Amino acid sequence: HQGVLWVSSEDGRIKGFDWTVNDDASFKSFLSSHGWTDATATGGNGDSTTPVMVVQSNDENNEFFFPGFIDTHIHAPQFPNIGLFGSSGLLDWLNEYTFPVEASFGSKSDPKNQQTDPKQIPPEGLRVYDEVVARTLAHGTTCASYFATIHVPATNALAALCHSHGQRAFIGRVCMDNPDQCPSYYIDPSAEEGINATQSTIDYIQTLDPNGTLIHPIVTPRFAPSCTNASLDGLGKLAASYHPPLHIQTHISETLDEIALVHQLFPEASSYADVYDQAHLLTNRTILAHGVHLTKDERTLIRARGSKVAHCPASNSALGSGLAPVRLMLNEGVTVGLGTDVSGGYSPSILETARQACLVSRLLQYSAEYQEMNGNATSDGTEKLSVEDSLYLATRGGAAVVDMADDIGGFDMGMIWDAQLIELGAVLKDTVSPLDAAPVNGLAARSLAPSGPVGNVDLFGNETWQERIQKWMWSGDDRNVKNVWVQGALVHTRE
Ligand code: GUN
Ligand code: FE
Repeated sequence: HQGVLWVSSEDGRIKGFDWTVNDDASFKSFLSSHGWTDATATGGNGDSTTPVMVVQSNDENNEFFFPGFIDTHIHAPQFPNIGLFGSSGLLDWLNEYTFPVEASFGSKSDPKNQQTDPKQIPPEGLRVYDEVVARTLAHGTTCASYFATIHVPATNALAALCHSHGQRAFIGRVCMDNPDQCPSYYIDPSAEEGINATQSTIDYIQTLDPNGTLIHPIVTPRFAPSCTNASLDGLGKLAASYHPPLHIQTHISETLDEIALVHQLFPEASSYADVYDQAHLLTNRTILAHGVHLTKDERTLIRARGSKVAHCPASNSALGSGLAPVRLMLNEGVTVGLGTDVSGGYSPSILETARQACLVSRLLQYSAEYQEMNGNATSDGTEKLSVEDSLYLATRGGAAVVDMADDIGGFDMGMIWDAQLIELGAVLKDTVSPLDAAPVNGLAARSLAPSGPVGNVDLFGNETWQERIQKWMWSGDDRNVKNVWVQGALVHTRE
């Protein structure tokens, strides 16, 4: 049970593999039938003189490679707030918890500072960012699209940390300049200064990684209520001034209160999506977080502009925002990926987020059926996402959301080796009896401590790969993640 995989040391791309030594046909057919590793079935010769990576699983079918997860929406500075929700919805939560924690990433002497001196970053802030990058890598996230804060030095530091840890990342300095909606202690002094500060983070990132191999800038208006028309317009122009245009990320239609606020603040716009469209912020490189309550017209507009949606089910459930209709969006041709939305989301794990996407879709289907029973809306019975659907969103879906579908999210020949090695739990077949192993005080006195990572205990060693993957998605966690690679480089090893 082993295979050899050739990954180019120059560009980190898959050049070939030979899995012939792995005779587990069900593994191959399972993966290829879901489009994940279609090339494994046929393999390739690679450049046999430079097998920079030799891959082998050492146990009885106990490990497998999986594409690295892509977190299409995460707020790095909110990491210390994981688990804090208060008792009300999004808008109160932002004021009570989110803006204060983000504000603490500025310099103590000049909280709104826009300077680039790294010494202006509070040491606690650096520690948080370091922890976020290490922690998400340990959960198998090889690519993340980050919201930072309004502060230039801390945003640049997040980019530098991703670069040094080796995580692929989009780094956004958050723009928010509407004095009626932002707290006085955490706001861009003006639209112009916010745009200039954003420009300086873009310049920093493009100097840090001139070829954009790992780290990309992303233009980040927080969401419509936080921004004036001047900053929305200016940021749209800034993104469009690059060739190719810069990526853009923001929030849209997360809660009903927020949508009502947008209608009140932007009476001239025909919809929430139209606010962004008028500022040229809906492009084919735009990531829109949530989209829980988008109307059909808005979905049509988003589809027409080629903008993508980051589905954040853990956050939407925890904040009580609603149940996003993912199947509907997919059926209408909208590109969807998964986001943890830390700390609206309570977990930095995309595996947990995939699980929550399955759960939310089941609740959505049930609530549609319930409405139908009461003579209201109808369910077409396909709202429910399968484990395979959800893992698709976590990998290939996310890759399409960050506009890298040809490069990451799968193991096709020529794709970049962004991958995780997953170790399942023990196969108990042929195990030594606890009585034989330690008959000292009898069975009752023996510890039944877990024998390995969770996610799978295969009693007789005859589960199919489909069953193993299902058990992994429903019950696995970071203890299953043995190694993580980005761009062909090993970036995480489990302790
Ligand atoms: N909308 C505007 N800002 C935020 C944020 O920080 N988190 C979430 N979940 N929604 C937002
Ligand atoms: Fe968010």
